[in-house]
Amino acid sequence: MVPRQRPDIGWLDLACAAAYTLRGGDSARAQAQAEAAADELAGDGRHALVSLSVRSGFDRLLATLALPPGSEVLVSAVTIRDMVAVIEHHGLRAVPVDLDAETLALDETALAAALTPRSRMLLVAHLFGSRMPLQAALAFARRHGLLLVEDGAQAYTGDGWFGEPGCDVSLLSFGPIKTATALGGAVLRFADPRLCGRVRAAQALQPLQAGTAFARRVGKYALLKALTGRVAYGLVCGACRVLGIDHDGLINRSVRSFAGGELFQRVRQRPCAAQSRLLLRRLRGYPRARAALRAQRGERLLAALPLARPGRAATGASHWVLPVLSPDPARLIAGLYARGFDATCGASSLYAVPGAVPAGAGDLRRVMAAVVYLPAPEREGDLQGLALAVRATLGDGASLV
Ligand SMILES: Cc1ncc(COP(=O)(O)O)c(C=O)c1O
Repeated sequence: MVPRQRPDIGWLDLACAAAYTLRGGDSARAQAQAEAAADELAGDGRHALVSLSVRSGFDRLLATLALPPGSEVLVSAVTIRDMVAVIEHHGLRAVPVDLDAETLALDETALAAALTPRSRMLLVAHLFGSRMPLQAALAFARRHGLLLVEDGAQAYTGDGWFGEPGCDVSLLSFGPIKTATALGGAVLRFADPRLCGRVRAAQALQPLQAGTAFARRVGKYALLKALTGRVAYGLVCGACRVLGIDHDGLINRSVRSFAGGELFQRVRQRPCAAQSRLLLRRLRGYPRARAALRAQRGERLLAALPLARPGRAATGASHWVLPVLSPDPARLIAGLYARGFDATCGASSLYAVPGAVPAGAGDLRRVMAAVVYLPAPEREGDLQGLALAVRATLGDGASLV
């Protein structure tokens, strides 16, 4: 069985992570070292803050800004639930703005329509590993005095990109399912050094992530990496079938950073020394060619399929995930599973943000229910096999969309 995704981390990185947990050490110093490395690698004159996760850093940003209750944050109409939960937790309103399903860019007309005197911030998410152009959003934010926050949680690929330098704040995630994962951790980049300093000071008041929690995390993802080898994964899926366990739900739950428990209790921590050290290692050591190769494989696979995909015209697609559109996702997933490929609907917790204004024509929200994430093949044979399996499932190459 070809797994949907494997943690993007090597055994040597995991061994180092285990060693870091044994070493312990000064968390503030380790955090500062990772921040200095991010600043040096980015070289854009902005300032880094290392947090436990994007959600943690964003939560502290909102706590620091202390916007008046009822202020509005214009958000990409498709994002993850927790980002909206963080906004609402601070007494703010998330107002969804349409995204073009072809380019994954913000719809400028919808953006203008969403603006009210209460708008304070624009939170723009790059989706499915693409990087949308931000010039229009930037000009809009400047014109209307909005803080522009770029959610690049899905967009880091280790190619030297650390967010668009014109943004006020960029958020990059190194969570367990991300490219160059550090099993957690995030880098926030600030244009304004004073704002960066204030958010850092707010974060410093949070409890420290327990070293034992990070050690458990290392063990968990080492196990997950072992179990997502081809043969082992087939056995796990087989065992789930025999035991009547829904393997899809089991996997989706197990790769979530803060699954279970109260979200805010879990995100409101600062990273322990081992977490920051692993992040530093990933920042410095992730091979540039790796993501480029994956992007090429993804492009070839998607080009060979008779299926539409969200973001067909998006720029800089890294094919971190391989979403396609199907009018019958359950049938496609079942057909691929029967042929040894584990596809899913739930790879990245994205959802359509609810709002008073209905989705416009061409808006990404309209097609989210049709999204199926294909497994990302690492071998040439699997790539060919997956293309054949999709065609066989669809019935001899007929386009379903
Ligand atoms: C668009 C988007 N924003 C934010 C996040 C949250 O990142 P983190 O897990 O680092 O909090 C994710 C995680 O998948 C994401 O996809």
